Amino acid sequence: MKVRKAVFPAAGLGTRFLPATKAQPKEMLPLVDKPIIQYGVEEAMASGCDQIIIITGRGKQSIEDHFDVSYELETMLEQRKKTDLLHIVRSISDMIHVAYVRQKEALGLGHAVLMARELVGNEPFAVLLADDVIDNPVPALKQMVDVFNQKQCSVIAAQVVEGKMISSYGVFETAPAEGFNGRLFEIKNMVEKPKFEDAPSNLAVIGRYILTPTIFDCLAEIKPGAGGELQLTDGMRLLLKKEKMYGYIYEGRRHDTGDKLGFLKATVEFALKRDDLGAPFREYLKALKL
Ligand code: UTP
Repeated sequence: MKVRKAVFPAAGLGTRFLPATKAQPKEMLPLVDKPIIQYGVEEAMASGCDQIIIITGRGKQSIEDHFDVSYELETMLEQRKKTDLLHIVRSISDMIHVAYVRQKEALGLGHAVLMARELVGNEPFAVLLADDVIDNPVPALKQMVDVFNQKQCSVIAAQVVEGKMISSYGVFETAPAEGFNGRLFEIKNMVEKPKFEDAPSNLAVIGRYILTPTIFDCLAEIKPGAGGELQLTDGMRLLLKKEKMYGYIYEGRRHDTGDKLGFLKATVEFALKRDDLGAPFREYLKALKL
């Protein structure tokens, strides 16, 4: 089985980024000049997915507009002979087929994933949380697809988090697994936001998942958990009882762009890497003499 479909839950309220997210989705906030969600969509495509499913909610119209054709804009750019910009704008709408499912109420990440059930059908699929922007020459999801192709089991992204910060994450309880340069482990359990003393490892769950379709039965079975929301972690814990699952410590630099400080750091790093902006931006930062 191949991973062809990528699901992007984007129906959350983005409360950490208020007031910017009062009337616009956090997924559309730009890192330099590209909306956060486009980084994720490009990663999914570069990892072999050819169908994108975005779970949206109220106030998320601009995500659909972004991946749609903008005739007025294209006509204007054509008339003014702005071919470079025209190319950029067209390349987004030409990118890929995107389907949208509406989650009427933000009932949790597990509920959002369950919304994709009909469009995904009976095949393995990827889930990407667009907030987690992971920068690496070989996309993080591609690395996980390589693991899936060999194991044919669910694969969840993991990152080492040292010290007390581990308490902000879902944390893996692990057992050793062979291969993939020591980056692979078998998942024994997952604990949501444990106290530092109780954390079963220093490996945190990150927003990239490859899941077998059995997860849908699991999500349909579980009851709302913390905050009255249907938690993906609870669904995955049930999946663990039915199937083997792997964690994979991806190679790459992750930015939590749903958090204001994380967003600022990502903006600076992406700007510094740009051919057109990097040099003058570096000069500017140096001149600040912090
Ligand atoms: P978060 O936990 O980051 O929540 O959701 P959020 O609402 O987006 O942001 P904050 O924490 O309030 O600032 C993780 C992912 O799950 C999606 C979000 O869009 C995000 O991609 N999600 C969450 C849904 O699609 N539906 C939900 O009901 C909840």
